[in-house]
Amino acid sequence: MQCLHYDKTSLYIEDVALTELANEFGTPLYVYSFKQLVSNFKRFDDAFGDYPHTLCYALKANSNPTILRSLARVGAGADVVSGGELFFALESGIPPEKIVFAGVGKRDIDIEAAIKIGIRGLNVESEMEYEVISDLAERLNRVAPVSLRINPDIDIYGHPYIATGRHGDKFGITGEAALRLINRIKNDDYCDLVGIHAHIGSQITEMAPYEKLAEYMADIARKALQAGHRLEYIDFGGGFGLDYKNAIEVNIDGQGSDDLVVEPQKIISTFINAVKDTEVPLIIEPGRALVANTGVLITEVLYLKQTGKTNIVIVDAGMTELIRPSLYAAHHEIVPLEIRDPGSMVVDVVGPICESSDFFAREREILNVGRGDYLAVLTAGAYGFSLSSTYNARPKSLELMVRGKRVKVIRERQSLDDLWVE
Ligand code: LLP
Repeated sequence: MQCLHYDKTSLYIEDVALTELANEFGTPLYVYSFKQLVSNFKRFDDAFGDYPHTLCYALKANSNPTILRSLARVGAGADVVSGGELFFALESGIPPEKIVFAGVGKRDIDIEAAIKIGIRGLNVESEMEYEVISDLAERLNRVAPVSLRINPDIDIYGHPYIATGRHGDKFGITGEAALRLINRIKNDDYCDLVGIHAHIGSQITEMAPYEKLAEYMADIARKALQAGHRLEYIDFGGGFGLDYKNAIEVNIDGQGSDDLVVEPQKIISTFINAVKDTEVPLIIEPGRALVANTGVLITEVLYLKQTGKTNIVIVDAGMTELIRPSLYAAHHEIVPLEIRDPGSMVVDVVGPICESSDFFAREREILNVGRGDYLAVLTAGAYGFSLSSTYNARPKSLELMVRGKRVKVIRERQSLDDLWVE
């Protein structure tokens, strides 16, 4: 399923020409496809077959209220990392028993809130945090449901900034620490060990890390069960990688081919096979895989220029709207909304922000464009708007949801009054 496609020379999302939206709503502009969102969710959900599971969407990828409500309606749970995300998840209608709370630096008030609302599990990321959770639960006279976030020392061979499961990374506890806590929690009147958790990184494009993870987690789960804990879930985290480079075929009247690099069915079967003898339900926490290919960022070409040997295209969106290229040298395809000229040029595509790291692409071959043309930066639905900022006094973009022919504003553009806060 691909909801982004060219119809002759015009780029469409579902049944709507993106040029019409850019003309009506202005740029920079985020546009999402509802059908793509629901289809992405269903693909993961179906991959579990009859095995009991919850898909806890990682809110950090994109926490637009309409996107959250849409996912809540099809049955998603939530992976949250702050009191703010916990509030968003509840506001969007996700029930507490489908929410898990990760994060290396949870504040006391957020832990208390999570215990009081009856969260599914608080992921313990250090032995000290466990002690704090236990004390807070005692003070509230409640039992805190805790799960252990394991750092299994598995590399994902991706960008180091989005690897989280190697020893030395700040996330989770080692296997040995997990075994210590499995024993300690047995004698704790204020904590129940309800799960074990891992999230080894993001944009994982190979099977090997998942295979190692499945075995590692199955082993810890068995030890927890043998110690007498009644585990309610094994949570394998998120990280499912996309093929950002093949987001669309340009110049043809066809569909794009952007998709997950490893078939979800393959990863999920690996998880199920490793743990099915335990019969413990599974959780996964996809963020990117549910929303990245639902969204595009639309921007207008302001100027073209040459400095030295470099041809530069300056557009009206930048690292304030989509910081992934600046942060991780991430690749996002860039295509015109209207193909006017089949010729191409090799350029740097840069934003207007006063930072040299403000670019979308370097030495990239793109179709010829000129001042006033609109471009789409593809696969921008995850970690796009959610990582956006107002640096250089730039109001945050408008967001639109397209469903068939229907278009809905799902977040208004910020005004300068929103920024001028005293
Ligand atoms: N679960 C936990 C505990 C996480 O920390 C994350 C992402 C996820 C799930 C979802 O991972 P996903 O399925 O989206 O890969 N800003 C970076 C990604 C950082 C992700 C941090 N944690 C990027 O733009 O690629």
